[in-house]
Amino acid sequence: MSQAAISVSSLSKSFGGIRAIDDVSLSVAPGERRVLIGPNGAGKTTLFHCITGTLQATTGTVSMFGTDVTRLGEARRTELGMGRTFQISNVFTDLTVIDNVILALLGKDRRKWVAYRPVDAYPELREQAAESLEMVGLPHRANDSVARLSYGERRQLELALAMKTGPRVLFLDEPCAGLSPSERQHFARMIAALPRHLTLLMIEHDMDVALALADRVTVLHRGKVIIEGDPDTVQSDSEVREVYFGHA
Ligand SMILES: Nc1ncnc2c1ncn2[C@@H]1O[C@H](COP(=O)(O)OP(=O)(O)OP(=O)(O)O)[C@@H](O)[C@H]1O
Ligand SMILES: [Mg+2]
Repeated sequence: MSQAAISVSSLSKSFGGIRAIDDVSLSVAPGERRVLIGPNGAGKTTLFHCITGTLQATTGTVSMFGTDVTRLGEARRTELGMGRTFQISNVFTDLTVIDNVILALLGKDRRKWVAYRPVDAYPELREQAAESLEMVGLPHRANDSVARLSYGERRQLELALAMKTGPRVLFLDEPCAGLSPSERQHFARMIAALPRHLTLLMIEHDMDVALALADRVTVLHRGKVIIEGDPDTVQSDSEVREVYFGHA
């Protein structure tokens, strides 16, 4: 059997008396697209944070491609290949879209410590930046300032910035939240077009988006996994219908 991209074993996380995550185990295969769904407060974001190292789990283990990362901090887990969308506040709104991506690429490049050179001194980075803008559907916005982007376009830029760290596993927490229905569709198509070798874990409330993108779906309810399976199986499960719609 090949090694899991992400393996979570008997993980729990308590906040004071609240057990936000209660003995969760899951395994995500390399290249798999896993969508996590569940009602508000189910523990989805907390689970993500425990996997990426933003929070330390109370008990249980997390490993990535066979490496136990349970005791590692967030920065180290990022170095090992866990990627996630950046807060848009990390973006320089006065600069152009492409210069923001170049700066982000420079951020992981040792040369930035060596000399303050204009970004044009790095033609290969400009090329890489253009490729990531292509990937998220923003090539036509490359030379516009970020301040001129729509909300949806900023989200696309966030995704380009997340991809620049070259993640092996990408975590997206409600990437379509706050987008209009047409932006939502556009964004979902963009996620669908990400490289297939990338392992994707995504939290998504929109069932249409979730079911269209997922290879497998995990349903969390009150900190526990109540069902996991392919989208059709999950959608027709009576417990899921109960949790979501109040009837089977
Ligand atoms: N830092 C914290 N301190 C105390 N309680 C917290 C903290 N973070 C989350 N919780 C609690 O843990 C539970 C799970 O929250 P979490 O944000 O993980 O849910 P979620 O599934 O992401 O919900 P939503 O769909 O609303 O984003 C909730 O009861 C929440 O109030
Ligand atoms: Mg959440």
